[in-house]
Amino acid sequence: MRTIFFGDVFGKAGRQTLTQHMDRIIKEYQPDFIIVNAENLADGKGLTEKTLKPMFRLGVDAVTGGNHLWDRAESLEFIRITPNIVKPMNYPEHAPGSVHYTIQKGEFKLTVINLCGQVYMPPCDSPFTVFDRWYEGFEDKDSCILLDFHAESTAETRALGWYVDGRVSALLGTHTHIQTADEEILPSGTAYITDVGMTGPHDSVIGMRKHIILEKMSTGVPIRYEASDRGNQINAVCVDMDPVTRRATMITRIRQNVSPREK
Ligand SMILES: [Fe+2]
Ligand SMILES: [Fe+2]
Repeated sequence: MRTIFFGDVFGKAGRQTLTQHMDRIIKEYQPDFIIVNAENLADGKGLTEKTLKPMFRLGVDAVTGGNHLWDRAESLEFIRITPNIVKPMNYPEHAPGSVHYTIQKGEFKLTVINLCGQVYMPPCDSPFTVFDRWYEGFEDKDSCILLDFHAESTAETRALGWYVDGRVSALLGTHTHIQTADEEILPSGTAYITDVGMTGPHDSVIGMRKHIILEKMSTGVPIRYEASDRGNQINAVCVDMDPVTRRATMITRIRQNVSPREK
């Protein structure tokens, strides 16, 4: 069974990129499941019903979050009542979002989970301890598991990769918006990449207009960020999993420039 996972889909540029290229990607890769990290869907900050519903209509089965998932106060109730929005499970119990979401298509079953890192990130519980506790109680042991690990430190992501190897079918990193070239299948069958990267405007600094970030970083003076709309890229991975052994058999990195760079 095949899954395409899109890294942090950022703002209008990211949504347009998916809208314009989803049919082609589906034709080319023939995925059974499509999962998206959607913490930056609405102008780079959180998601809204208006920005997420069109993504579901494109064929997205479930979305994961991260530290920005709850940035929009007006969306909290929508997140609470939408079962295929998966939150980082090491945030407080009462934070809206599902702890896990299982998608069944014929014989194929995929459970999606999400955890945040602790290094250089807002406070949350240990992803190691919380994963152990969840995995022990998870009864659907014939389901493949896809873990989106949303973290800043490459070392923390790598360590969690070794920790969950053989227990999840894929650990796919998100959050830095920078794709890493270290995709592999770990010895016990977990597909791994430190960061899938960002689907959105790469003529930017992690999605925001670059001249604004340059001004902020070169002067230290606070300034309002604006989402970029230039240099769109698809950053994703395609993962094949064996539904019987629940081991990954292939991980392919996808990085495509889909709009010309401008000055
Ligand atoms: Fe992000
Ligand atoms: Fe993030």
